[in-house]
Amino acid sequence: MSMLLSPVELAGLSLKNRVVMPPMCMYEVKAEDGLPTAFHHAHYGARAIGGVGLIIQEATAIEPDGRLTKHDLGLWNDDQKDALSALVAELHAFGAKVGVQLGHGGRKSADAPTPYAPSAIPFDDSYNAPQEMTLADIKRIKAAFVASAIRADQAGYDMIELHGAHGYLINQFLEPMTNQRTDAYGGSLENRFRLLKEIVEEIRKVFSKPIWVRLSVTSYDEAGNTLEDYQHISKWLEKLGVAALDISTGGLLPIRPNIPIYGGYQAGFSAKIKEVVTIPVTAVGLLNSPELCEYILQNGQADLIQVGRGLIRNTNWLADAAEVLHDHDYKVYNNSYKRGQVR
Ligand SMILES: Cc1cc2nc3c(=O)[nH]c(=O)nc-3n(C[C@H](O)[C@H](O)[C@H](O)COP(=O)(O)O)c2cc1C
Repeated sequence: MSMLLSPVELAGLSLKNRVVMPPMCMYEVKAEDGLPTAFHHAHYGARAIGGVGLIIQEATAIEPDGRLTKHDLGLWNDDQKDALSALVAELHAFGAKVGVQLGHGGRKSADAPTPYAPSAIPFDDSYNAPQEMTLADIKRIKAAFVASAIRADQAGYDMIELHGAHGYLINQFLEPMTNQRTDAYGGSLENRFRLLKEIVEEIRKVFSKPIWVRLSVTSYDEAGNTLEDYQHISKWLEKLGVAALDISTGGLLPIRPNIPIYGGYQAGFSAKIKEVVTIPVTAVGLLNSPELCEYILQNGQADLIQVGRGLIRNTNWLADAAEVLHDHDYKVYNNSYKRGQVR
């Protein structure tokens, strides 16, 4: 059996394989109320039937002005909690574990009239200028993260992931270019880490399921945090009881990094973080080749593999991967799906 498709106990979860669907915003909430629609049921349901071990629901806002766009899902009220709990129950019935990525867009909240940010520095001309968060704003947003985590628990999610990557609010706090505060939340790396630290600490008091954190471990700008800084942050997160680290890159600045993009282009970053922590680390980024995924796992560069666009293209990605890896033990959803694999 392949490592990729074998069951595993990891990061506080009992998973039927190591394939994770990473959070991917669908911008399908046309009613702008943060509620899931028939689309979300079909979209996630197809991936659950397709055998994904863990589905992490797209970035889901903790408050309306923290949405990346007004078409995002939300968990800031109980109607959303109730509607999402029906989605979670459905995905569980199809055999998937289900998580939700909780996030706040900060200065990249595209539809907020005056977005919140650590410092009043706009992302670029196309976004509204943000306001620097007061200590009261920080307190409110921390409380909103906690309230959303409680709702996620009540809705039946198996884990939550805090969105600390891609230039959204938590990432803005972590990075010196976007955080020029002079209070306890700015300045040193420890201070810039404080918001994330306090969010994790406060959620831990009320949420006993696994908490994962997604980080962009480089901004692709020399003025940003170094990989070594993110190794420190990773160790601090492990100490705080975070169950796994989801390692990504970029998104902080309106730049297109001049880097080679190839299958596994971010896996080296996962491996670097894995060197300094004992908690599981995921790899993501053009991991479309099952052989490459298996190689990364077998060589200990990461513990879980995230397949994003590959799963958008092909809901049957895992069954095809089983063929490529000659994994004869892998079971598709039912016998009719098995017949579908006969060419
Ligand atoms: C349509 C789309 C939406 C995305 N939305 C999110 C998101 O909500 N949260 C997040 O952390 N990353 C998001 N991402 C990034 C993916 O989670 C993933 O890291 C990225 O696509 C690289 O993996 P892939 O090459 O397997 O697609 C998104 C990517 C795509 C293609």
